Amino acid sequence: MNILEARNIKKVYNPHSPEPINALRGVSLDLKKGEFVALMGRSGSGKSTLLHQLALLDRPTAGEIIINNKNVAYMSEKEKAKFRLEFIGYVFQDYALSSELTVFENVALPLLAAGFDSQSAKKSVSDVLQKLEIEKVSNHLPSEISGGQQQRVSIARAIVNKPKILFADEPTANLDSVASRFVLDALKELKEKYNQTILMVTHEPEDKKYTDRTIWLKDGLIEQEL
Ligand SMILES: Nc1ncnc2c1ncn2[C@@H]1O[C@H](COP(=O)(O)OP(=O)(O)O)[C@@H](O)[C@H]1O
Ligand SMILES: [Mg+2]
Repeated sequence: MNILEARNIKKVYNPHSPEPINALRGVSLDLKKGEFVALMGRSGSGKSTLLHQLALLDRPTAGEIIINNKNVAYMSEKEKAKFRLEFIGYVFQDYALSSELTVFENVALPLLAAGFDSQSAKKSVSDVLQKLEIEKVSNHLPSEISGGQQQRVSIARAIVNKPKILFADEPTANLDSVASRFVLDALKELKEKYNQTILMVTHEPEDKKYTDRTIWLKDGLIEQEL
């Protein structure tokens, strides 16, 4: 079953400028439930742009996105925001944690935003912190923990509401090999235990050990699927 279908996605940045940027020039792809897919391609090939469109953080210039059998085009902004909270998790390359909130509070944010009461939020947050082995730093600020721990916090925040699809944009780019392996093992476990669908941008050919298939982007188009 396809959990996501993208048809002929195009994205033009600065369309009215003298030199518009065709970041995506017609990308079609399917993600099946429980698939762990790597997205590769050189810098500037459109990987982050594609993730932004598929995660509904941005609106494509053309094309269709169907997630969980719903055509995103027919959703209002309000519906989209709700849909994002319930169905989509996003791991940013630079973690994007709130520096003035503790680890626990950072991870609790999406649940509170989605309207969960604080008691059930607390339970979910504790569970996910334990799963990612960061429960010991739950009262620390992001600045007080390592980069590897910060990335695990950002993954915890992305999966705490059990999203149908997890997007991860170079989640190991800033990590050493030990921390990277921990993150990749954690993602793989999500896939294997919970049938989590994951689309992960990576530069590391070695990460193919963890993923089911690889999509290669080149100049805003799919060059190859393996
Ligand atoms: N917000 C933006 N405004 C204008 N151009 C952008 C923006 N984001 C990305 N681009 C351009 O779109 C192209 C694809 O970028 P990006 O999706 O970030 O590639 P990748 O993630 O593969 O490195 C690049 O030419 C980049 O400069
Ligand atoms: Mg990028």
